Amino acid sequence: MHEWKIFSCISEASRAAADFIAEQIELAISLRDVCYVLLPGGVTPVVCLRKLSEKNIPWEKVHWYLGDERCVAKSHASRNDLMLEINFWSRIPNANKYSIPAELGAEQGAAAYSEMIAPIKHFDIAFLGLGEDGHTASLFPDNAALNDTHPAVPVFNSPKPPGERVSVSVDTLKNARCRVILTAGAAKAEVLSKIRSGENLPVNTIGPVHWFVDSEAMSKTVNKPDTSSTSK
Ligand code: 6PG
Repeated sequence: MHEWKIFSCISEASRAAADFIAEQIELAISLRDVCYVLLPGGVTPVVCLRKLSEKNIPWEKVHWYLGDERCVAKSHASRNDLMLEINFWSRIPNANKYSIPAELGAEQGAAAYSEMIAPIKHFDIAFLGLGEDGHTASLFPDNAALNDTHPAVPVFNSPKPPGERVSVSVDTLKNARCRVILTAGAAKAEVLSKIRSGENLPVNTIGPVHWFVDSEAMSKTVNKPDTSSTSK
């Protein structure tokens, strides 16, 4: 089952998510002396990433990958790795960062990224976002990418521009040791209500999630039990 933590505002939810992610990084390093993390795109994670960058973590032991990337030029303003560079990697020393070569196009980019991440059988933390349609990473409802079992998959006809993307697969997210989603704002309230009702949305197929949400995003799920079914 999912685990829900609800906060008064996005700032508090972001702080709590950063604390939790830092704890999970420290745990992974204590067990295996290394930590592999998938990072989100979009705008919601910015505050959390900046709070995470202020933590005292042996950064050289952490390897940062992306959950997805848009198929645009490396320098394009909408790249997720650019958002991560500005709000996170530029703020920590020794960042072991691995971008998705999405500029090659969806097919070639996914094939190359699959080779990059195939040796990582279990990401320690998959830190993800949530779209208003229930997508996470670039795994959109009713999209063919949902059925692709490679480590990384090409995405076409994304309803969220740009249409072509590269995403980690459902299986890669299922195999992660821990999944964290931070989401906030009234715009996500409708989809959170559907998620808690167990609707067959991509984010309900990746396994149990540690949710960090604000009260606005939960405004349509007050007193609604979480009947979401999650397959591990
Ligand atoms: C992307 C993201 C996507 C994002 C959600 C939420 O490339 O757009 O990976 O999955 O996390 O769409 O985006 P916001 O945080 O901007 O609402």
